[in-house]
Order: sequence, then C-alpha cells, then structure tokens
Amino acid sequence: AATMATVALVAAGSAVAPEAAGAAPGNPGAPRYSAGAASVGDPYFPDEGNGGYDVQHYDLNFSYDPATRFMDATATITAIATQDLDQFNLDFRGPEISSLTVNGHAHAFTRDGQELIVTPRPKLKAGQTFTVVVKYAGVPAVITDPDGSIEGWVPTDDGAFVAGEPQGTPAWLPTNDHPTDKATFRFTAKVPEGLTAVGNGQLLSQETSDGWTTFVWDSTEPMASYLATITIGNFVVTESTTASGIPVYVAVDPRQVAGSASAVSQIPKMIDFFSSKFGPYPFASTGAIIDRAPNVGYALETQTKPIFSSAASVSTMAHELAHQWYGDSVSPERWSDIWLNEGFATYAQWMYTEYNGGTSVNSTFNSSSNYGRAASSSFWQTVLADPGPVDMFSNIPYNRGAMTLHALRGKVGDETFFRILREWAASHRYSHASTADFIALAEKESGQNLGNFFDVWLYQKGKPTTW
Ligand code: ARG
Ligand code: ZN
Repeated sequence: AATMATVALVAAGSAVAPEAAGAAPGNPGAPRYSAGAASVGDPYFPDEGNGGYDVQHYDLNFSYDPATRFMDATATITAIATQDLDQFNLDFRGPEISSLTVNGHAHAFTRDGQELIVTPRPKLKAGQTFTVVVKYAGVPAVITDPDGSIEGWVPTDDGAFVAGEPQGTPAWLPTNDHPTDKATFRFTAKVPEGLTAVGNGQLLSQETSDGWTTFVWDSTEPMASYLATITIGNFVVTESTTASGIPVYVAVDPRQVAGSASAVSQIPKMIDFFSSKFGPYPFASTGAIIDRAPNVGYALETQTKPIFSSAASVSTMAHELAHQWYGDSVSPERWSDIWLNEGFATYAQWMYTEYNGGTSVNSTFNSSSNYGRAASSSFWQTVLADPGPVDMFSNIPYNRGAMTLHALRGKVGDETFFRILREWAASHRYSHASTADFIALAEKESGQNLGNFFDVWLYQKGKPTTW
C-alpha cells in the first residue's frame, strides 16, 4: 500500500469481494476469493506486511560481487493461505525481477513502490500451502528511515552490511515484512573467494570452487524479517562454545579486532548471565558480526548474530545479546511497542554493567541521562508507548523504557519482577506481543492493579513523580 488511503480501500475491497465473486448461495463451503490486504495496518510503516497468508520459510540462493555490487538471486517462499486468495502482495524494493512462479506456474506480477502484487492462477484456497519463486538480479537497495539512518543492503569497502530494522529487508528479499509473521530462513550465498558471508543461524556448509565460496546458513527458529542478515566482507572468524554448550560464531573485520576484543571475549559470560535472569537462551547458536560501515552508525540485534557497524563496546554487546530474548524471540506486535525491545535491552545492559563490577542499576536509573533529568527537559515530553517513527530509536524507548522497568521492579519486588521477565520470554517465545499483553502479565504475576503505574510511565507525558 502506498498510503493509508490505499490500505483502507483494499480493506473495504476485501469485505465486499465474496459477493462480487458470486459465491453460490446455499453453498457456504464454496471458495470466496478475494485479495489479501496490502498491509498489516501498522501505522508507523503502512506499507509493511500483507494479509491473506502466513509465511513458513524463506530460502534465498544468490551470488554477490562487491566489485560490481551486483546480486543474482532466487528466492523461494513457502506460505499457507489464510483465506481464499485471488491476489496477494509481498514487500519488495529490490532489483529487477525476471520471473515469478506460484506453485510452478509462471505469473504476471506488478510492482508499486514496496508492493509486489501477485495474482496466482489457479487461485489459492484457505489452508493451502503454496510456493512462490522469484528470480531477480541487479543492485539491491539502500533504504533511508524516518530518523534519517540507512539500512537494507549497505555496500562497504569489502562487501555489504545487511540490516533491516524496521523496514530494510525488502531491499534484497521479497518478504511479508512485519514482525507478526515469523518464519524460518535459509541463505545460500556465493561470494568471491577470500570473503565470508555471515548469516543468521548455523553454518551448514562452506565450499570453494572456481574462485567463489558458497556459504549455507540455516535459521532453525522462527525469525522476524527485520532481524535477517547475510553480511559479506573480509572477516576474521572465531568459533567456540559457551560453558553450557551453545555454539558461538564471531566474524570481525580485521580493523575492528582490537577495539572489540573485550566485548567479544565476554559473549559467553553475557549469554550465561542473561540465561540465569531471563530463562534459557532461545536459539541454537549465538555470536556476532563486527563490520566496518561508517555511514551506518548503529548496531542491530540480528537474530543469533548481532551486527555492529563499528567496534563493539561491552555495553552495546550486552544490549544486542539481551535483545535475543526481548525483541527477537518476543517481538513487538506493532512498532509503537518498540519500548518492549529497547527498554528491555537497555535495562539488561544496566544489569550486566552492575554484574560486571560497574555502576549499579540504581545509580544508572538516577543518573543525569535518566531519572536525574530535570522535569523541564524535552526528554519527558514524548509518550513512551507511542514515540512515533522518527523517535522510535531515540533515547525515549531506550532510557524511559529501562526506567519504567526499574520503577516496576521497585513496585513489585525483585522476585515478582524477574518472574514477570522470565514469563514474558517464555509465554511469547518465537512470537510477538503488545504493551497491553505486558501490562496484563505484570498485573497477573504481581496481583496488583498497575493501571496508574503504567499510565504514568507509558501513556502520559511528563516526568513521573508518584506511581
Ligand atoms: N535496535 C537497534 C538497537 O538498539 C537499533 C536500530 C536502529 N535502526 C535504525 N534504523 N535507526 O540495538
Ligand atoms: Zn536495542
């Protein structure tokens, strides 16, 4: 959908389509074909996601040459129709498509901004599994976000930095691009010999012939599309296992090795510490990708392997690894729920700092970048539960979010607080949840009415004084 107006029209269209399609009266079981919605209706990114199907698996097989920035790709998407479909959309802002098939039948398709519109024939029935194969080639896109930062497929001097929060993955892969539709992923990446392609999940194979190396990466737990990466470059790779047996794969640009050594060496300790507080680590492997992408300027919690655009600090590493529980395994239902990601990861970062012998969580809460800010500061003038797309990665969701959790801890006590955090991770594992779900869980676990507490911290502007 190009605009909200388009979304509304599509929604209205689907409501009337069954009659228009002429389903026989007296034959209620007859298919009632209509178009899947062009959006999931997330107001921060109205083009994101689509209706009418549920993706199970993405398989992307491609070659990429950093010298020409040219990608040659075949994406195979396996999905289940959730309604009788005569049309559905994928989100795609990548290069030119040469062919598209649905269940082996070649199809015409149209592209309109981020929307790739497919009219499958034969039509698809609700419950039917279908396979879409899209072949495309060219230079993948760099996407600019509302806050001015870039994401998607960002070329570097030795490869590509690949990151997609909140809307970058359609730059290189046709997806149902919203955290409410998770799927497993496999990437088969062929790159010039000497370079490494690092993806989410586990490395299944790595083979070199004729001057090209092919890496196969397998993500075995469901993943939101914004957490996908297949980053390419000259990397020093180190493999190990944590004390509890979780494989660790770390790829570091040689220019970042010295500056990241402390953070990298603490990955196992961080995973073990967070597991003891939040419950079992949710994925089959962990690690990190530490690249050099000077024009990016942020790190991202890409699933199983957080990615850094510059040397990784200890606190940023702790933040990105904590996101594996909060953000990756439990993802936000709407982007306005972003504090559930950033507030939690920031709070975990405060906890790790204290555990590691640094500033206590309580002092960090009270510091001048947090609760110590003057009540007159503009910092307090943004509603935490709805920061807007420009401020979704500002210090509001991070710092006010973490402060909210610390205030909750004070209100319900340590035992109940950590039970809430563990239950949040356990009950929404590999799924998504909303701010309302969190409030309900906190009230249930504490037995308290927390309406005023959350109103003051999440929904009101101003510096909270009593809660
Ligand atoms: N979620 C990332 C982190 O806090 C930040 C992503 C910023 N992305 C952006 N497009 N500004 O670890
Ligand atoms: Zn974060």
